[in-house]
Amino acid sequence: MIGSAAEDTDFRVRREVVSFVRRSNRMRPNQRRAWEIYRNRFVIDVPRDETSTSIHPAASLDLVATFGRDAQLFVEIGPGTGQSLIPMAKTRPQANVLAFEVYRPAIARMLGHLVRESLDNVRIVEADAVAGMEYLMPVRSIDEIWTFFPDPWPKPRHHKRRLLTPAFATLAASRMKPSGVWRIATDSADYAEWMRNVLDNHAGLINEPASNGSARWDRRPITQFEQRALDAGRQIFDLAYRRVA
Ligand SMILES: C[S@@+](CC[C@H](N)C(=O)[O-])C[C@H]1O[C@@H](n2cnc3c(N)ncnc32)[C@H](O)[C@@H]1O
Repeated sequence: MIGSAAEDTDFRVRREVVSFVRRSNRMRPNQRRAWEIYRNRFVIDVPRDETSTSIHPAASLDLVATFGRDAQLFVEIGPGTGQSLIPMAKTRPQANVLAFEVYRPAIARMLGHLVRESLDNVRIVEADAVAGMEYLMPVRSIDEIWTFFPDPWPKPRHHKRRLLTPAFATLAASRMKPSGVWRIATDSADYAEWMRNVLDNHAGLINEPASNGSARWDRRPITQFEQRALDAGRQIFDLAYRRVA
């Protein structure tokens, strides 16, 4: 399907393995209000393919037109309600921040925060980040990618759902500017090791010396998700990889 936003029911159409669970987009009244009032200001309408979180392969994105300026570009994958994205965008007014998030109620909450904080340097695409990276992001366009607490899919039979695969690493690296950085955090020791394995073996990425998984990146705000992991006694792993020629 090409064109308007998909109906709430097409989340059931399932063609391929994705890194998220398809949930209902049912929203609370205040979320629905925020979505209706502010979506045109912050959410980029993209042509769809088969599902409501897909992107049509012929789609493209003009970043200068989208943000109204040419600036540094930070891309967050899966910001949820924006608990890290909002403060990080606020402290980087000189930069454009683009988010890929599949869960509409979370986006609606983020819209409310963006308005309260008077932020105008953030745009959101309601879509699978894999399709977003492939079809919307020009090559060598991203200064930093942020992927904080991607779903760990701990059961071995679900590992194929993990976002971070060698193929996705190649795709993401191709969209990063030379010397661009991919910052990642997880509370899963197993997923951290998996990601290190994928990224260490990628010829186009090198591990940042200060990032060995144990040092917390101090510019990353603590989200509720991270706080719950800390309260449960889980270790947090921060990784950073730089794009090399
Ligand atoms: C565990 S939550 C973490 C949320 C947030 N980053 C934080 O630290 O609180 C993972 C988020 O990633 C989103 N997500 C998972 N796979 C995605 C994908 N392929 N594209 C875009 N968003 C995705 C989920 O909807 C969810 O909001």
